[in-house]
Amino acid sequence: MSSIGIFDSGVGGLTVLGALRRRLPGESYVYLGDTARLPYGTKSAATVQRSAVNAAAHLAGHGLKLLIVACNTASSYALDAVARASSVPVVGVVEPGAGAAVATGARRIGVIGTEGTIRSGAYQSAIADLDPEIEVEAVACPLLVPLAEEGWGDHPVTDQVARHYLTPLLQWGAETVILGCTHYPLLLPSLNRVAGSKVSFVDSASAVATTVMSDHSELIDTSSGAVGDVHIELTDASDRFLRITREILGAEPEHLEVVDIEGVA
Ligand code: DGL
Repeated sequence: MSSIGIFDSGVGGLTVLGALRRRLPGESYVYLGDTARLPYGTKSAATVQRSAVNAAAHLAGHGLKLLIVACNTASSYALDAVARASSVPVVGVVEPGAGAAVATGARRIGVIGTEGTIRSGAYQSAIADLDPEIEVEAVACPLLVPLAEEGWGDHPVTDQVARHYLTPLLQWGAETVILGCTHYPLLLPSLNRVAGSKVSFVDSASAVATTVMSDHSELIDTSSGAVGDVHIELTDASDRFLRITREILGAEPEHLEVVDIEGVA
């Protein structure tokens, strides 16, 4: 039986794994966190493409039926390159996130993401493709990924940093803000505290789970009552990555391996 492959630059994509497992617990998953090359968000498009194609090629060796690019930066810069190199369908996070935000009916949509995601303009064009009348304001938030990787999702320092990034969007009148980085759902306690009830956040991780179920239902097995396996692979397993992986999963991973994916593609 083939698995669903998921990759991110680090542990942020575990939010996508979590959203998928809640909806599709019978599937088997292989998750790759490219922690040796984290962050992707500050790198050039060429470097992100090379890393993403390598990560996808490594996961393909597990025998996949579907590949999820659970990283907004890689989805923004490398989705086409990964899809060209893949023999199975590839789902990114940007289109589902943009679709979910447009579906809220908001006329002013804010996007927060890594420098790479915002610079690529991927969300701006995905929203314009769906409704060119919607106004979009995008803010790069380079300090948020390290706070998420540190496990500071509910922390006064994160409140302060979030206030710095969100204030211009709140003043501009954003009705919905897309969490355009798979690390950001880990920061929701702080983000919600800062934004109050003025905006709703759209989590691209949950939006991907919805897309997989609607667009790839032929690949999904909902009949079995059994719980599928989850294999976690990291390209670097320092103590902090292991600690935060446990924290996000809420349990000790059953199968965790350190892998070398250099030059796989
Ligand atoms: N989780 C990645 C994303 O969604 C960002 C982390 C990084 O900068 O590597 O863009």
